[in-house]
Amino acid sequence: MTNPAWTPLFAHGTRLETTPLGVLLKDEQRNQRLRHSLGGCLIDFSRQHVDLETLQSLAKLTRESGVYALRDALFSEQNINLSEDRAVLHPALRDGIEGLSSERAEAIAVTRDRLYALAESLRCGSWRGCTGKAIEDVVHIGIGGSHLGPELLVRALEGYQDSHLRFHFVANIDAGDLSAALRHLNPETTLFIVVSKSFGTLETQVNAASARSWFLERTGDVNALAQHFIGITAKVDAAQEFGIPQQNIYPLWDWVGGRFSLWSAVGLPVLLAIGPDHFDALLRGARTVDRHFLQTSDLDNLPALKAALAFWNFNILGCTSLAILCYDERLALLPDYLQQLEMESNGKSVDRHGNLIDYPTMPILWGGTGCNGQHAYHQLLHQGTSAYAADFVLVGADEHQYAEHHRWLNANAIAQGQAMAMGFVPQGSGEEHRRVSGGHPSTTIILDQLGPQEMGALLAIYEHKVLSLGALWDINSFDQWGVELGKNLARPIFAQLEDVTEPDNQDQATGALIKHLQKVRQ
Ligand code: F6P
Repeated sequence: MTNPAWTPLFAHGTRLETTPLGVLLKDEQRNQRLRHSLGGCLIDFSRQHVDLETLQSLAKLTRESGVYALRDALFSEQNINLSEDRAVLHPALRDGIEGLSSERAEAIAVTRDRLYALAESLRCGSWRGCTGKAIEDVVHIGIGGSHLGPELLVRALEGYQDSHLRFHFVANIDAGDLSAALRHLNPETTLFIVVSKSFGTLETQVNAASARSWFLERTGDVNALAQHFIGITAKVDAAQEFGIPQQNIYPLWDWVGGRFSLWSAVGLPVLLAIGPDHFDALLRGARTVDRHFLQTSDLDNLPALKAALAFWNFNILGCTSLAILCYDERLALLPDYLQQLEMESNGKSVDRHGNLIDYPTMPILWGGTGCNGQHAYHQLLHQGTSAYAADFVLVGADEHQYAEHHRWLNANAIAQGQAMAMGFVPQGSGEEHRRVSGGHPSTTIILDQLGPQEMGALLAIYEHKVLSLGALWDINSFDQWGVELGKNLARPIFAQLEDVTEPDNQDQATGALIKHLQKVRQ
């Protein structure tokens, strides 16, 4: 069963089944309609398997599904996160919401001023550790939305780093993360940033407690926590109880979702790395997209267009995955970031009013860097049996002295999209093993340069794509109840792994695995 409003789209899908992408690409008017620029990014949808007639149907569906109504509700501070009765206001963090309520505007402005002052004191060295030395190493402890954005941007914007500080990210409860970070650090010159909106996430709590122990064992001075621990959280009391003084705590708010929070104090490592001017450029790039998203209608609206094509690929053409193929090693963490942003947002099976839905939502989003993927999974992409879509992300400007390398990188990126679209038909008989089917849709995004403004725009485009897809699928993109069960099941198992007695109240598979681990850990 599917939504009757989708019927015309299925008809277009059937109609286009016998039209190769190469034929569609002969229509230059169509191609121009599918090529756009925004915030320093070229976004070329021309290798998507659509024609102008289909686009019009997708535009109609977008309007009728309430994409623009949901957008307007977000920007007017309505509680669109229905299951948690919360507003969703990450655009406000980059001043993207005009007329924001004064209380929220004030909270953002005060916090940003405090944050910029903190960053300046750390970058210029006026912030001193417990023995009077300046900070040299920053250890960011957080997971999910409290980790992925900061690490992605510190890596992606390494060319803009103008501070002496060194950054270390600790996310997993696997002690390998923490021990690798601490291995060569001097507690006197190390600052820990504990980021957790709930201040209750197991991984972050355990990592932060171990970091605090590491610090206290080496300094022996609990008062020194004030010079070496910063807290970023919505739960100020819990952070104070951990030992972080109030003046070191920067608030998060329940109207900002974790996976949308890098624009807040969560982005502190980015601000420390690239400084206030470039961080402002990051915010400005995202704000440009906010304005565009709010003020543009129909399929000139790029996030809405990106969502409509994602819906078309997945629900109509049957593409079961979306590959994010980044042709720049500085973007190596972009697939991880987008996995949380898209899959934690739209991996849902009930509609916004809690009714089970009977149509598929959110494909698997995965990815990696090119050209490496060409020597790993591109064989499947070219000759496998899976239907998939791809986003290519590459950088236009040559930003280091190896221009030839960069030219080969981009030549391969463009060629891979061409091969996926056009395929190859062998001429000789007995050559079927060389056939490449083609017909795989892709979008190519070319950043003018890998700069803060372009990154701000890129990430905001994906954020608003998430909201638009949520409206198309009539689901709540802003809660994540599905992560609770696993967390709760782990607690009794943790206790049973400590134990040597027969694990009770477990299904057979779980019980057998616990017993094995009890045995091998001796
Ligand atoms: O994955 C579940 C989740 O709640 C994410 O939504 C969130 O970004 C992450 O865990 C970390 O949560 P917190 O910032 O509360 O530690």
